[in-house]
Amino acid sequence: MTQQRYRITLLPGDGIGPEIMAVAVDVLNVIGEQLDIGFEFSEALMGGAAIDATGEPLPADTLELCRNSDAVLLAAIGGYKWDNLPRHQRPETGLLGLRAGLGLFANLRPAAILPQLIDASTLKREVVEGVDIMVVRELTGGIYFGQPKGIFTTETGERRGVNTMAYTEAEVDRIGKVAFETARKRNKKLCSVDKANVLEVSQLWRDRITKLASDYPDVELSHLYVDNAAMQLVRAPKQFDTIVTSNLFGDILSDAAAMLTGSIGMLPSASLGENGSGVFEPVHGSAPDIAGQDKANPLAQVLSAAMMLRYGLNQPTAAERIEQAVLKVLDNGYRTGDIMSPGMTLVGCRAMGDALIKEL
Ligand code: IPM
Ligand code: MG
Repeated sequence: MTQQRYRITLLPGDGIGPEIMAVAVDVLNVIGEQLDIGFEFSEALMGGAAIDATGEPLPADTLELCRNSDAVLLAAIGGYKWDNLPRHQRPETGLLGLRAGLGLFANLRPAAILPQLIDASTLKREVVEGVDIMVVRELTGGIYFGQPKGIFTTETGERRGVNTMAYTEAEVDRIGKVAFETARKRNKKLCSVDKANVLEVSQLWRDRITKLASDYPDVELSHLYVDNAAMQLVRAPKQFDTIVTSNLFGDILSDAAAMLTGSIGMLPSASLGENGSGVFEPVHGSAPDIAGQDKANPLAQVLSAAMMLRYGLNQPTAAERIEQAVLKVLDNGYRTGDIMSPGMTLVGCRAMGDALIKEL
């Protein structure tokens, strides 16, 4: 039998990025040996690190390498150092360029509460126990990319800032399909979130999603306005299974959903296109305040590698093994600072990685 070989582009980025990426790579190498999966890793510059080296947050070489790989594993980008640069040179612009450049229109952000970490949530145990939500966020359209955009000067000499929230039917349909398919593999409940009581773009969104529903009679569809959805997420999060929403609403709601679980340091994400390489990255940022101190939680990065195996490379067994190892190290009481609670064993990033490898 010939061994499966995958070309993986690593984008360690800034802050804690390199430390957590190193752990994920070690874990992938171990799992690769066990299951006879070959990984060829190439590393490229992105974010602040790329700005320092080349002046641009997403050098053309990096995008090219990502295009030519089977999957991209990204850690985190950004930091205070680059916060005051002009917009085209900011690390975030590199991330948006990567999403657009690879056509990654579907962003899957799971937020499931782990029994081991239930007390890390700021919400009451009975509210969050059993929460298991998947946010499907549209990622290459809406107000993030709509035209016109910019800061313009009016006839009276006043400056006016403009962004445009726009979706075509085709854009809504393709994210809608991903969401219905996702819900179908979960608890078959899909909630579409919009602002159709005020925005025309949302009215179109709702019309298309409603139309699509007839192709998925096994999935129960509901609709919520985004303000109500935000409220329901913190009031009674267990009513949700899969949520589908536009770029901006998804940005906001996925952070809220993440915090139900107690720590954003545990959550992975997948960004997928029609075909071609997906990007897999933790939901958290680059945490410059603790960078280089061996304090970071590598578990979201490791779980992002698991998502890469499941959604990007179709290696569910490998994904499952990594996820089980994460649960085991938590069962064994190992905690990084962000998820620490009394009676547990505080470990650093490296030691958490070693514990994972021992479990594997
Ligand atoms: C996210 C982030 C990004 C976004 C930023 C860093 C551009 O908040 O991935 O949620 O707004 O999409
Ligand atoms: Mg965000």
